[in-house]
Amino acid sequence: MFEDKILVLDFGSQYTQLIARRVRENSVYSEILPYNAPFEKIAAFKPKGIILSGGPSSVYSKGSPLPDIKIFTMGIPILGICYGMQLMAHLLGGRVAKAVKREYGRAELIIDDDSDLFQGVSELRTLASASRRRRPNSELRTTVVWMSHGDRIEKYPEGFTSIAHTDNSPVAAMANKKKNFYALQFHPEVVHTEKGREILKNFIFNICGCSPTWTMRSFIETEKERIRKLVGNKKVVCGISGGVDSSVTAVLVHEAIGDALTCIFVDNGVLRQDEAKKVEQMLKKSFHMKIKYVDASERFLKKLKGVKDPERKRKIIGNEFIKVFEDEAMKIKNVSFLAQGTLYPDVIESTSFKGPSATIKSHHNVGGLLKKMKLKLIEPLRELFKDEVRVLGRELGMPDETINRHPFPGPGLAIRCISDVTKERLTILRKADVIVLDEIKKAGLYNKIWQAFAVLLPVKSVGVMGDERTYDNVIAVRGVTSVDGMTADWAQIPCEVLGRISNRIINEVKGVNRVVYDISSKPPSTIEWE
Ligand code: XMP
Repeated sequence: MFEDKILVLDFGSQYTQLIARRVRENSVYSEILPYNAPFEKIAAFKPKGIILSGGPSSVYSKGSPLPDIKIFTMGIPILGICYGMQLMAHLLGGRVAKAVKREYGRAELIIDDDSDLFQGVSELRTLASASRRRRPNSELRTTVVWMSHGDRIEKYPEGFTSIAHTDNSPVAAMANKKKNFYALQFHPEVVHTEKGREILKNFIFNICGCSPTWTMRSFIETEKERIRKLVGNKKVVCGISGGVDSSVTAVLVHEAIGDALTCIFVDNGVLRQDEAKKVEQMLKKSFHMKIKYVDASERFLKKLKGVKDPERKRKIIGNEFIKVFEDEAMKIKNVSFLAQGTLYPDVIESTSFKGPSATIKSHHNVGGLLKKMKLKLIEPLRELFKDEVRVLGRELGMPDETINRHPFPGPGLAIRCISDVTKERLTILRKADVIVLDEIKKAGLYNKIWQAFAVLLPVKSVGVMGDERTYDNVIAVRGVTSVDGMTADWAQIPCEVLGRISNRIINEVKGVNRVVYDISSKPPSTIEWE
């Protein structure tokens, strides 16, 4: 259905995923493959154009990543970005060398040819720059771009000409128009490149000739059809947690196969206040789905008794979840599939640098189920980015409250109840957590913050309430801003809001006499305390 596709080959740039997202924002489907993907796989994807990403390597160093050279014989447009540009020069007969002056950050691009890739991009500007000194009487067409490179083109490959330059790079963009090969020294995908979106649009539509057919509606219809065919007359089971990904997965699969889907919601005893009720209500009442609610809280809490080590807490909760889920799933007759909310960033065979956070904490998964119960996976979101999942959820008519929900970890409050997890401590934490979220929402900050929550510390401190001395618990409030959870900064929540949170927790939550605010960023801290 999506005939017009753009392939992004990944050479390790931190921006590779961003390139694919930018293409998709134009309703053109895009996928990422590693730089060394076999040519057959690339050809089978049938792209209308290829984008070569940037990357940290230097084309002239030993072992630098190289694609299969046959991509240049496919007769389709290719756009090289940064390392991708140097690669084109290197592989097509040009010469790349270390730049005398490395260029990082903002640069003024002077466009020499605005006929196709740069159509409608530039503004006429008077420059007080070296370029103007070189050509004092000419009017210059310029735009602001974001550079990040240490190498530069010294000799064009055959058939190429320069289409833009900067003060430091005589060749900031080059093209072989006959073959539709284009290359940029700068990054059009980042927001700091003012007309980056227009440049990519020109490539996708004018040069590759794509049509904008990839919309959420068309995605939903294609996916529903695929799921229907795949499932046939079998049954599907889906574990839901209340999070965006599992809820959207469930709603989409339900639209496709109706009651052949059973959702299982496991109450592990470390959920937030009223969580189970709210999720059940949303999916049952608004979407008429079959949901099995399993209260396994006692079972989990028993296993967690006396466990202080965070990783052990995670393992226990993960293993126990699989057991409970399995018991329930086994009761469903004819069940052959497990629907899961895996997202695209988890499946990309990326060559990009991945921060340690991806593996520092063991996140539970249900891999074991597939083997033991011989279930096959349905992952309808595996081609989507998180923001696209939100758009999809909205398109499916899901409420904002679910769509914009802050991420909540699988091990739940167990890793926010530092040290011992007991019913009493969980009650304190739940009450404090409700107040944090309530005040954040009232202040209109909920959607500006990645995650906000309360943490119960294993410390007691002295206080005075009325005439009495108290010796009670400390609650730490954590609020962070982030784009993907890999890095994060502490949220600058206004003092008045923090003041209200502190006041309310100390007054309303019995057992707490002190509230502190966590002002650490990630790295070096993590978002969760355990
Ligand atoms: P950290 O604490 O590693 O968290 O900075 C990054 C993001 O991951 C979430 N997180 C988890 N999610 N199982 C999950 O499903 C886990 O064990 C887990 N640990 C952390 C965390 O809430 C944040 O969004």
